Amino acid sequence: MQQERLLKVLVIGDLGVGKTSIIKRYVHQIFSQHYRATIGVDFALKLLNWDHKTVVRLQLWDIAGQERYGNMTRVYYREAVGALVIFDMTRASTFQAVLKWKGDLDSKVALGNGRPVPAVLLGNKCDQLTTGLCSKLPKLENFTRDHGFVGWYETSAKDNTNIDAAIMCLVESIMTVE
Ligand code: GTP
Ligand code: MG
Repeated sequence: MQQERLLKVLVIGDLGVGKTSIIKRYVHQIFSQHYRATIGVDFALKLLNWDHKTVVRLQLWDIAGQERYGNMTRVYYREAVGALVIFDMTRASTFQAVLKWKGDLDSKVALGNGRPVPAVLLGNKCDQLTTGLCSKLPKLENFTRDHGFVGWYETSAKDNTNIDAAIMCLVESIMTVE
């Protein structure tokens, strides 16, 4: 017998970091340079043949960056079992916002056992880096651990770098929680 698991995953981070682009790349294999801000929330669904007896229905909730200033995140976050927290590697302010998003997340949703929902950190737009980030990598390693992320990736929705790997890391972590 095949079983189905529905996983609600949040995609959060500041305005323009590439949340919608990452989802479009992952689900539809497309990328556009054109920026159209998400209003409120958008949804996408991806089916994964997880193992021989499990199909995962991955429901991605694409939360508008501007929602950090709104009152709706508590509603959007309800029943979520994981999150991708995204920043733009070319804009430091979006990295500073990562902890605000993580804090917002952990204050409004938790697993049944009270533990925080697994979250993976994504530094997006790595295709735009002119200088190597290498010197900063050990710091990001520590940052990830210190702030309770289950992993971190440099990603590019444009070049399709590490998008699958980051989402797999999150789903693995969700599926091994119980
Ligand atoms: P909000 O909906 O306003 O919260 O923004 P968002 O996080 O959904 O950002 P969106 O995906 O709309 O991307 C914003 C802009 O960044 C668009 O112009 C994208 O084309 C661009 N962008 C997204 N990802 C990448 C990337 O990996 N590399 C490059 N070079 N540009 C990217
Ligand atoms: Mg968007």
